[in-house]
Amino acid sequence: LSLAAESGTRRIVRQPGRTLRSSAWFECRSDPGMTAIYMERYFNFGITREELMSGKPMIGIAQTGSDIAPCNRHHIELSKRVREGIRTAGGIAFEFPTHPIQETSRRPTATLDRNLAYLGLVEILTSYFLDGVVLLTGCDKTTPACLMAAATVNIPAICLNVGPMLNGYSEGRLCGAGSVVWTARERYATGEIDENEYMDYISRGTPSVGHCNTMGTASTMNALAEALGMALPGSAAIPAAYRHRAQCAYETGKQIVEMVEADRKPSDIMTREAFENAIVANAAFGGSTNAPIHLLAVAQHMGIELTMDDWDNLGSKIPLLLNMQPSGEYLGEEYFRAGGLPAIMAELLDVGKIHGGVLTCNGRTMAENVRGKHSWDRRVIRPYSDPLMEEAGFIHLKGTLFDSAIMKTCVISPAFRRRYLSNPDDPMAFEGNVVVFDGPEDYNERLETLPEIDENAILVMRGVGPLGYPGAAEVVNMHPPGRLLKQGVDALFCIGDGRQSGTSACPSILNASPEAAAGGNLAILRNGDRLRIDLPKRRVDILISDDLLEERKKDLQASGYPLVPSGTPWQELFRQETDQLSNGMVLRNAVKYQ
Ligand code: FES
Ligand code: MG
Repeated sequence: LSLAAESGTRRIVRQPGRTLRSSAWFECRSDPGMTAIYMERYFNFGITREELMSGKPMIGIAQTGSDIAPCNRHHIELSKRVREGIRTAGGIAFEFPTHPIQETSRRPTATLDRNLAYLGLVEILTSYFLDGVVLLTGCDKTTPACLMAAATVNIPAICLNVGPMLNGYSEGRLCGAGSVVWTARERYATGEIDENEYMDYISRGTPSVGHCNTMGTASTMNALAEALGMALPGSAAIPAAYRHRAQCAYETGKQIVEMVEADRKPSDIMTREAFENAIVANAAFGGSTNAPIHLLAVAQHMGIELTMDDWDNLGSKIPLLLNMQPSGEYLGEEYFRAGGLPAIMAELLDVGKIHGGVLTCNGRTMAENVRGKHSWDRRVIRPYSDPLMEEAGFIHLKGTLFDSAIMKTCVISPAFRRRYLSNPDDPMAFEGNVVVFDGPEDYNERLETLPEIDENAILVMRGVGPLGYPGAAEVVNMHPPGRLLKQGVDALFCIGDGRQSGTSACPSILNASPEAAAGGNLAILRNGDRLRIDLPKRRVDILISDDLLEERKKDLQASGYPLVPSGTPWQELFRQETDQLSNGMVLRNAVKYQ
C-alpha cells in the first residue's frame, strides 16, 4: 500500500547539452519576437518570465473530468496533487481540458468520442510547448483515447487513473456499479420490483467519487495501462476516495518530470512484448470485451502489429485469478487491498507467462516492479496453480456469419461452459434458430411479444456496429424474455455487431466484423434461420444453402442496408473514416501519423 516507497522516484540529470522541446517556444533564440508572443499571455495568470525561460520541464495535465463527465470528475481534485508532484520534482504544470467522454449519458454512444478525444489530444500535444504529459484517465474510453494520443505523439506520458468508487451494498450484499443495472433490469422485467425500486436499487452501486468499481471497461483499461507499463505499479486499483489515490497523484507528478529528464517515451514502453503482457493480464483479471478494441487501437497508433488472433493465442488458455465482479464476487476495494495488478502480474511472472524484461514508466522493468508481490488474500487473488477458472481468456470466432467476433468465456455460467465449450464427451456444436433485432429500440419493443423465443433461440442484434449505430453501441448483452426468466432460463446465446458492457455477464458473441452496415452477413439473416455455434472450433456458421446465401446477398446489394442518418458532422466524418471493431475502430487515416 505504500506507493511512495514503491515508486521511489529517481532523479535523473538531463544529459549535458540536451534541450527540451519547450525551449523551441520559450528560449529567446533567433526570433525574440515570437518568443515574446508565445510567452506573453501566460503571464496573465501569474506565471513569471523566469519560470517560462527556466528550461525546466513543461508538463501538461490532460484533464478528462468535469461536471458532465462524473466518472472522472474527482480528477479536478487529484490534479492539484499532480501539480505539487510536478513542482517538487522541478517541473512546471499546465492543466488543460480534453473532450469529455461520459460512458453512461453520451448519446447515441460514448464510443463516438474515443476517436474525437484522441484527435483533440493529438493536436494539443503536438502544437503546444509540452515536454511531457500526465494523462488523467478513468471512465471507459478516456484511457484508450489518452493512450492512443500518447502513442501518436510519442512524448513522455504517464497515466493516472481516477480510481474505482468505494464498494456499493444492497441488502447487505456487494452491489457493483454497472453490473447492478443488468440485475435490476431482469428483476424489473419479471415484475419483482417497480420503477421506483429499480432507480433506488441501481443508485446503491454508486456510493462515492470514482469510476465503476467492477472489472468493467474502466478498471480493465486502467489495469491494462499499468500492465503496459504506462502507469505507476500498483496505481490502477486504488479506490478514488482513498488517501492513497491522492498520494499516487503526487508520485505520478514527480514521475513524469523524471521521465522527461530521462527522455523515456511511449515507444520505449509500449512494445510488442508489453502488449502481449497486457493480453495475458487481461485474461487473468477477467477484463472487459472492450479491451481488444482499445488495445488494438493503441497498438496501431504505436505502429505495433497486433491482431484479434493474438487475443485467442495468447489469452484464451490463461486462467482467471481475480475474483471480482462481473466474473467473480468482489469489488474494487477488495481488489486493491489484495494487492491490485502487481499481485496478478507476480503470479504470471512466476510461471513465465509475461515478459519480465519490459521497461515501465518508472524506469524499472516489469519484473522489478512486481516480483514477489503475491497477494495475502487468496479469496480475491488466487495463485496461478489454483485459479478460479481454467482457460478464461477471450476466444476469437470466425465463420460464414462474420470474419471476426469474440466471446468472453469467464463470465458465462458453468453449465453453459460445460455444455458448449469444455465438455470433451460432447463435441456437438450448438444449433438454434435466430431471432433478429434491428437495434436496441427494436429489441426493447418486441422482446416480450415473440412466442418463438424458447430456450434454444439465438438472439441476434444487428445494425449496432461502428457504422450502423454509429459508434458501436453496448447492446449485444440481451436477456431472455420475462416468461423464460421466470422458468429459470437465465441466458441465451446472443450475437451482435455491436459491443457489450464490460460489466455484463451474458453469453454473447460480439464485436462481429464486418458489421451488417458494412455488408457483413448479419445483414442477410432472417428470423428462423439456423446457426451453428461451435465454440471449440471457434466458428459460427449460417446453415442455409449457398444458393440462398448468394441470392440474399444480391438482394442486399440492390437494396442497401438501411442506415439511420448521421445526426452531427462528426458522426458523418466518423462513418467515413472509421475501421471495423476487429481492427480497433481506429480512424484509418490517423494511424499513419507516427
Ligand atoms: Fe464511467 Fe463505468 S461508466 S467508469
Ligand atoms: Mg461501457
